[in-house]
Amino acid sequence: MDSQRIRQPALAGKVMSAAEAATFFHNGMTIGLSGFTRAGDAKAMPRALADRAAQEELHFTVITGASLGNGSDGLMAEAGLLARRLPFQVDPTLRRKINAGEVMFIDQHLSETAEQLRSGTPSRIDIAVIEAAAITEEGIVPTMSVGNSASFVEQARQIVIELNTSVPLALEGLHDIYLPAARPAREPIPLTVADQRIGSTTIPFDPAKVVAIVLTQTPDSPSSVLPPDDETRAIAGHVIHFLECEVEAGRLPHTLAPLQAGIGTIANAVLHGLVESPFRNLVMYSEVLQDSAIDLLDSGQLAFASASSITLSQDKYAHFLANIDRYRDKVVLRPQEISNHPELVRRLGIIGLNTALEFDLYGNVNSTHVGGTHMMNGIGGSGDFARNGQISIFVSKSVAKDGAISSVVPMVSHVDHSEHDVDVLVTEWGLADLRGLAPRERAVKVIEQCCHPDYRAQLRDYFERACQAGGHTPHLLGEAFSWHQHYARHRTMRLDQRAG
Ligand code: COA
Repeated sequence: MDSQRIRQPALAGKVMSAAEAATFFHNGMTIGLSGFTRAGDAKAMPRALADRAAQEELHFTVITGASLGNGSDGLMAEAGLLARRLPFQVDPTLRRKINAGEVMFIDQHLSETAEQLRSGTPSRIDIAVIEAAAITEEGIVPTMSVGNSASFVEQARQIVIELNTSVPLALEGLHDIYLPAARPAREPIPLTVADQRIGSTTIPFDPAKVVAIVLTQTPDSPSSVLPPDDETRAIAGHVIHFLECEVEAGRLPHTLAPLQAGIGTIANAVLHGLVESPFRNLVMYSEVLQDSAIDLLDSGQLAFASASSITLSQDKYAHFLANIDRYRDKVVLRPQEISNHPELVRRLGIIGLNTALEFDLYGNVNSTHVGGTHMMNGIGGSGDFARNGQISIFVSKSVAKDGAISSVVPMVSHVDHSEHDVDVLVTEWGLADLRGLAPRERAVKVIEQCCHPDYRAQLRDYFERACQAGGHTPHLLGEAFSWHQHYARHRTMRLDQRAG
């Protein structure tokens, strides 16, 4: 083993196979796995544990930063390993098990997991499994994400390190590890600008807790975002025009405010649209950096990007790792408790850009539950930024499933972000700036600016009849979910159609 990868000679004797390391795990344990939006995830142990589960009874509570790559969530779900899973996932097999009630999924604000663990909820971490680029004299060098890894390492009784020799040692120095102290001795987090470093470059750890070091060579799974299309380009155009108007009105400087962009194809496309924009010297304070962030760094428009993970397509991943020295002073990766911390999001005045599955007349947003019941991915960090940011923008295509579903509905079938947290709504048809508007004023903007023309008359009709019934936030409760019910029966939300 390269002595640069393990710089504490006493730990060299802990190197073993994943199958051997799996013997430290016992039924009923709570496991903390590194990994955030498929980046920097523990890769060997989920597979080794799934293999063991084929031979014996093995159920765990598995906590991560966010989603895992390499099909790990699917493998563990299929093997029956996951009794409880938090705080985020994107895996189709796991999603099926969650929606069948076989895996208890806790959909949690991503800034909150570390805080809850600190107070012992849902339980103490028994074993932390952390992917690392190296183990130095001072600590563990994470790879492409930090996520909750520093908290897991701090709290776990035992630690397994997955040393990934396929990632360059040059990643060392990219991370900034800072964890808030336990209460009541906690001080304000000393970060006042996005590019500030406030912690150490490695995760401090107690070598006595390390029970195994497992060597891996598997790269991160490439991101699955699709390239921009006509609709996402139109959404990007509306957002950029809105930001230009904010600058013109003197509400934002030319460099805007630190930007956050959520996961997924639409948020990535909107950010990508900034490449064509007049903005310069932008800064990101986000939880994940997708391809668009690297393009903006390369174009020179983005001066600095702070996040908790970097999730890239295959080519962009290779480009980033090969040119790490070019990005070293422009990128920092932090624990998700810090990248998403309400105190910092409010202090920095972040512009949050997240994606809705559906939103309603008054600006309530559903980002997680299809048809009000079936989990898609989870709230992720969207709530951390929506509640606390300076301007909270939600984007969505106006229709889904070839127009059979309207993303603009009378009442959302599940609320992730209430009208009080949502400032601006955008679809390919236009942008509704809801700031300073009362519910009845909001509804007019949402219908006329965001709703797809195929559903506009239907939504106007609902709103007008609801207004006749009265109220500060007019609704017809007997009809509020009629569009969802119609879809469930006829596979379309068009009330004049009865397909299927
Ligand atoms: N009802 C049912 N399905 C819907 C829908 C609706 N109202 N709106 C969209 N969908 C479906 C799409 O058809 C698509 O399905 P497919 O995968 O079968 O093609 C899927 O949802 C994804 O939608 P897409 O339009 O491709 O957008 P996306 O990739 O940008 O993802 C979210 C959108 C909402 C699923 C995703 O952004 C997310 O999980 N957000 C919540 C977490 C979050 O915001 N985190 C931010 C910080 S990490």
